[in-house]
Amino acid sequence: MQDTRATLTAEGECPIGQESDDCPGFDRFAFARFIANQECAQAFVGVVDDAWLQGWHESNGGNLSYRLREEERDAYHRYLEKPLGGSKWTDLDCSVPELAGEYFLVTAAGSHFRTVRRKSSATTGLVEIRGDGKAWRVIGGFEGQGVVGRSFGKPTSEFAAHVAVHAARKRISQGRSRAVYHAHPAQVIALTAVLPQDSRTVSRILWKSLTESILVIPEGVGVLPWMVPGSGGLAQATSALMEKHAAVLWPWHGLCCAADSLEGAFGLVHTIEKASSIYLRARAAHKQQEDELPHSISDAQLLEAAQAFGVALNKDFLA
Ligand code: 13P
Ligand code: ZN
Repeated sequence: MQDTRATLTAEGECPIGQESDDCPGFDRFAFARFIANQECAQAFVGVVDDAWLQGWHESNGGNLSYRLREEERDAYHRYLEKPLGGSKWTDLDCSVPELAGEYFLVTAAGSHFRTVRRKSSATTGLVEIRGDGKAWRVIGGFEGQGVVGRSFGKPTSEFAAHVAVHAARKRISQGRSRAVYHAHPAQVIALTAVLPQDSRTVSRILWKSLTESILVIPEGVGVLPWMVPGSGGLAQATSALMEKHAAVLWPWHGLCCAADSLEGAFGLVHTIEKASSIYLRARAAHKQQEDELPHSISDAQLLEAAQAFGVALNKDFLA
């Protein structure tokens, strides 16, 4: 009988996608070995666990991506028992030459943070950006089916935002930025229903609610108008605002943060969520009408603290 299975093309592309029992040249177990053994992959799953425990990820809400270091890319190759292969290339909406040839560990579209550790070969995967920065393909993971009407098999529906933000932050950080994290923290989202969609107002309130937040968000938080989740417009607007801010607020939706490390990205969300909750409690207790609370740190005190900590506070947001 004729063998109908597809084989990898000369470019290492599996013509039927990465579901590779049907594609004999592809090593579908390399990704599982990578996740189980590689330190950065374990750190990734660890942050997902911690974020789930914080309550920031109802259902499939939120997503995480990590740009592998060169030695981690090499390590992935060592887990391969067959040549590197992947799905067909998918065109990106924007060209990202900064990310040419990079590998990203990404949560799957429709994945629940609650189950990522247990089902990591399904709920996470590895994506490669083509050498011209114009397309991506899956080279591992994303196996199986997701929940109600959403299937795994591909990276998060916010992948366009992750790619655009990685490109911008890699450029402005001289290559240090590696993690992009989107979460749905309740207090931050509630804050957007109380305050105007204005970066200056929101940033001042966060700083004045929790003094040491100036260490984590010295440039303040960027605030966008409401936009459709997963849209190209949201991706582009977020990456543009990330030229100035490591954290961007998506009103009535959540936060998108970028940092050098996974822990840094988690810390941004944690700090902004805590400052938001302090503000909301204080404002409710005061039955406050004005946005800024009657008893709070002055701008001069914020500057004094910034000087003591050696951080450059965004002066545009001070009086
Ligand atoms: P995904 O399940 O596709 O990652 O979507 C979750 C989300 O929060 C979209 O904004
Ligand atoms: Zn979301």
